[in-house]
Amino acid sequence: MFPHLSGAGIGLRLPHLADVVARPPRVPFFEVHPESFLANPHATELLLTIADRHPVSVHTVGVSIGSASGVDHAHLDRVKQLVDLVNPVLLSGHVAWSTHAGEYLNDLLPLPYTEESLKVLVEHVRQVQDAFERPYLVENPSSYVGFGDSTMTEPAFLTALVAETGCRLLCDVSNVYLSAHNMGFDARAYLDSLPAAAIAELHLGGFEAEPDESIPGATLLVDTHGTSIDPGAWRLYEYAIARFGSIPTLIERDNDIPDFDVLLAESRLARAHAAAALSRNHARAV
Ligand SMILES: [Fe+2]
Repeated sequence: MFPHLSGAGIGLRLPHLADVVARPPRVPFFEVHPESFLANPHATELLLTIADRHPVSVHTVGVSIGSASGVDHAHLDRVKQLVDLVNPVLLSGHVAWSTHAGEYLNDLLPLPYTEESLKVLVEHVRQVQDAFERPYLVENPSSYVGFGDSTMTEPAFLTALVAETGCRLLCDVSNVYLSAHNMGFDARAYLDSLPAAAIAELHLGGFEAEPDESIPGATLLVDTHGTSIDPGAWRLYEYAIARFGSIPTLIERDNDIPDFDVLLAESRLARAHAAAALSRNHARAV
């Protein structure tokens, strides 16, 4: 139904659902967290109306592919029922773990990049793709700490995961920017080392600087999704578009949710940044 997706979509959260149904905006696509709808039949009804009019991407936050104790198949079944109704253009989740022994933790927690954790993720991504019967996009995390026993870089780990499972990548450009700041790596070199053909979506979200209590005078960038997009993230976004091409991009906002028009303006700004990056590429090529 939506063979080619491009442009900048908007993360659709519950406060804007009814307005989007009443006054459908011109937005290339919406992205939703399925977990917000599982116990909310009225919101699901509104979502299905929206899905009839717009492409919808489903971004899971509770499918914990990094859990050593396994993926919760009861949760997968519940999400699958919604996915089957919505028929999303993209389906994604995080390289992280958020459950242990049946307990759900309200966080996306990091994992070491080792052969052992790669084996766990490969198995779980295969299970998730089998359950959903469609490709799954995995998203790079926002990082604050590393693991001493990691034996690969994050891009090498993601590249291996793509090669083993055929999954695609959701590259969160803001996460790359803030992780590069927090962990001291080169954000552009990180993007250069991702497998370009696997990139199926980009994310842009707001982050905030906080004092880093472990290093006097230093700041930590925290992925709050509660503010507008930082100028540094916009510059890195242009670099990403120049490298990966016209990839569908999502404006993510989960906290301090502003009027819908503010998100619409950021979606237009993303389109302008992408156009600037592509026209520079074009000028270089002729
Ligand atoms: Fe993201």
